[in-house]
Amino acid sequence: MKGKFWVATFSVSVLGMLLAACSSDQPFDVKEIMSKPKAYVGSDVCKMCHLEHYDSWKMTLHSRSTQDAQSNLDVIIADFDEQKIRADLAKLGDKLQVPADQIFIPKIKDIKYTQGNQWNQRYIVEKDGDLYIAPIQYNVASHRWVAYEEKNWDKRPWLLKCGGCHASGVDLEKKTFKELSVSCESCHGKGSWHSALPKTAVFEKRQTILNPAKLTMGVAVQICGSCHNRGDSTKHPGADWPVGYEPGRSLEVYFKSTSYEEGDKEYVYANEFAKGHHQQYLDWKQSEHYKEGVTCTSCHYVHQIGLPPTRSQTIGAGSQQCFECHQILNKTTAHAIHSFANCIGCHMPRIVKSAESGDIHSHVFKTLLPKVTIENPTIPNSCTSCHAHKNADLKALQEKAFPGSMSGW
Ligand code: HEC
Ligand code: HEC
Ligand code: HEC
Ligand code: HEC
Ligand code: HEC
Ligand code: HEC
Ligand code: HEC
Ligand code: HEC
Repeated sequence: MKGKFWVATFSVSVLGMLLAACSSDQPFDVKEIMSKPKAYVGSDVCKMCHLEHYDSWKMTLHSRSTQDAQSNLDVIIADFDEQKIRADLAKLGDKLQVPADQIFIPKIKDIKYTQGNQWNQRYIVEKDGDLYIAPIQYNVASHRWVAYEEKNWDKRPWLLKCGGCHASGVDLEKKTFKELSVSCESCHGKGSWHSALPKTAVFEKRQTILNPAKLTMGVAVQICGSCHNRGDSTKHPGADWPVGYEPGRSLEVYFKSTSYEEGDKEYVYANEFAKGHHQQYLDWKQSEHYKEGVTCTSCHYVHQIGLPPTRSQTIGAGSQQCFECHQILNKTTAHAIHSFANCIGCHMPRIVKSAESGDIHSHVFKTLLPKVTIENPTIPNSCTSCHAHKNADLKALQEKAFPGSMSGW
């Protein structure tokens, strides 16, 4: 026993000496560094050694999800003209739970943070020491204001309802967070040990931070699934994000996803396709791609290094993305009708709502035929986004594309 212990301490100290010798930095003590609890350090620390990754992250929506309006007013993209806001709200008529002239509209100087800027923007304000989402939302593409939780807005604390997906290092007990937006550590885990080691300690460096590419596919994709998902925390009642989850762990311990079957008719269609946004993981889990191991990062990059920018961070632009793998397609039925190759139009129909309904894509990759809508009118199909004028005659469209498929109807 004694001998073994000695060997162990000896090798650790030799390793330490060797590393100190190889290092041009200060000598370091791995044990000392690792004796403290692992903590968040913030993306600015990672930047010191990973400038390229930092730069690429700055180019993505992840780094811009939540922004500080107190230090930079320019992050507010809308014009805070109260008259225009109230006029837009009034157009919502009896959809409103609070009359348009009584909905709370914050003053610009009271906005602490903004959230979003691609599809819509929401505004975070402070009330009695807690952060809340103001009950107005600006929709970018349609340039209009809508109401957002106008009745209960000041009963839904931001950290509890949004925090973990739009900030990192959220502590619900202390009501604090480490950093706004989706940070390096949201995907790579807490970085204090890794950052404290000198650059030359390459192996210890690798062991003290999580590289998703080195995890099994099942665990790696759950990192994305910890936010591109909808449901309830299993650990903290009332929280809408996986409280306690850390990259590399199994998500289902911390999160129970939503489904139509269990009663979520607001955010999911009757066929379990996503109706609400940030549900890509739920869609994808139902797809053939999931079964074959084609994951989020097979199609999306998170670090853009060496790649030209595309919409939605896809590796290929639009349907080119599909040709990366699907070079040969059968030319029967639906594939034979059309002269173009808009794979996304049929296989990723815009049936999901972020700001306005149908502004983002389904991720089940299955084509929804007219038949689906005929059988259940609450479920949209892939065809009528283009064949809009044929809206009234879905049966004819179905029959023309797939002769005989409507016999018996
Ligand atoms: C003092 C410099 C330094 C700091 C600060 C630093 N890193 Fe590193 N990082 C390195 C070095 C050196 C490596 C090893 C390089 C290699 O694998 O070739 C590395 C490796 C990595 C890897 C790859 C690990 C692997 O197993 O492939 C990731 C991911 C990473 N760092 C993320 C981060 C994040 C996130 C932060 C901030 C929390 C951060 N780094 C802060 C220097 C640093
Ligand atoms: C901590 C939460 C979080 C994690 C983890 C996360 N995302 Fe996101 N993601 C977001 C948020 C929030 C946005 C939207 C930001 C915005 O528009 O304000 C987003 C946006 C995106 C977009 C849209 C980009 C665009 O330009 O339209 C893609 C693609 C994406 N994420 C892919 C991924 C992938 C792949 C992973 C896993 C490697 C991942 N995300 C992990 C929260 C997260
Ligand atoms: C489970 C994680 C999660 C929770 C909880 C969550 N979001 Fe998000 N949110 C996302 C992701 C991921 C995206 C980007 C992908 C998408 O919209 O489909 C997003 C997108 C957004 C956008 C649109 C961004 C843009 O650029 O247009 C806004 C605004 C937003 N969220 C606000 C909120 C607010 C306010 C809350 C709390 C009431 C909240 N979110 C709760 C994950 C989450
Ligand atoms: C949305 C999740 C996400 C965010 C945010 C993110 N990363 Fe990564 N990172 C990944 C994934 C996934 C990989 C694995 C490689 C890949 O698929 O691109 C990776 C790989 C890396 C690597 C290893 C690259 C290699 O050579 O193998 C480094 C270093 C790194 N990230 C640093 C950072 C730093 C620094 C930040 C913040 C400025 C950051 N990452 C933000 C998901 C993320
Ligand atoms: C087979 C390829 C593929 C896979 C797998 C995939 N995506 Fe996508 N994703 C796309 C394409 C294509 C788009 C739309 C590109 C465009 O804008 O034309 C997209 C769009 C998005 C968007 C922007 C919102 C929208 O719908 O327009 C988000 C966010 C996103 N994906 C997240 C994810 C996440 C998270 C995963 C894993 C759970 C994932 N994607 C898996 C191909 C894929
Ligand atoms: C990284 C490789 C890869 C990319 C990129 C990719 N796929 Fe796939 N896809 C596969 C694999 C592997 C399968 C399963 C085997 C097969 O059917 O070829 C599959 C299967 C499918 C299926 C069959 C589903 C079923 O129910 O049988 C459809 C439809 C599909 N993909 C559509 C798309 C579309 C649309 C895109 C572009 C948005 C795309 N794929 C991008 C690899 C990919
Ligand atoms: C991206 C837009 C788009 C989508 C999505 C789309 N179509 Fe088409 N469709 C067209 C155009 C444009 C034509 C004209 C022929 C051509 O250019 O290929 C056409 C032609 C047709 C035709 C033959 C011409 C006719 O109208 O008599 C049929 C049948 C048809 N589509 C059925 C469908 C069905 C069924 C779906 C859904 C599974 C669908 N289409 C999805 C755009 C679309
Ligand atoms: C007009 C709509 C339409 C368009 C456009 C379209 N598909 Fe399909 N595709 C279908 C339908 C319908 C099926 C039958 C299975 C299903 O419902 O998804 C199918 C099946 C598939 C399959 C599985 C069976 C097979 O044929 O190998 C793949 C893979 C696929 N499509 C990929 C693509 C790709 C890649 C593109 C773009 C080049 C594309 N599709 C364009 C409607 C379409």
